[in-house]
Amino acid sequence: TYVITQPCVGVKDASCVDVCPVDCIHPTQSEAGFESSEQLYINPDECIDCGACEPVCPVTAIFEESAVPEEWNQYIKINADFFKG
Ligand code: SF4
Ligand code: F3S
Repeated sequence: TYVITQPCVGVKDASCVDVCPVDCIHPTQSEAGFESSEQLYINPDECIDCGACEPVCPVTAIFEESAVPEEWNQYIKINADFFKG
């Protein structure tokens, strides 16, 4: 799965949302909670590992799980936890 990390915080460019073929990045600009969310998150249960989101992020916030820089490893859990009820 792909993971959104710290550079997204406060930026929320959302270019990634537009290219994701399975719409697994949330909250989108049209969803409740977008304005109050500090970053966007990838649902690990829905991501198909296509890689389309990674190059479009202007702040290089997106990494494949195994390539997440060590200092941002906690974002793997942060992304997953966003989707737990
Ligand atoms: Fe969506 Fe593909 Fe990025 Fe996964 S890797 S979040 S499926 S664009
Ligand atoms: Fe964030 Fe980059 Fe997407 S800033 S919203 S991960 S395009």
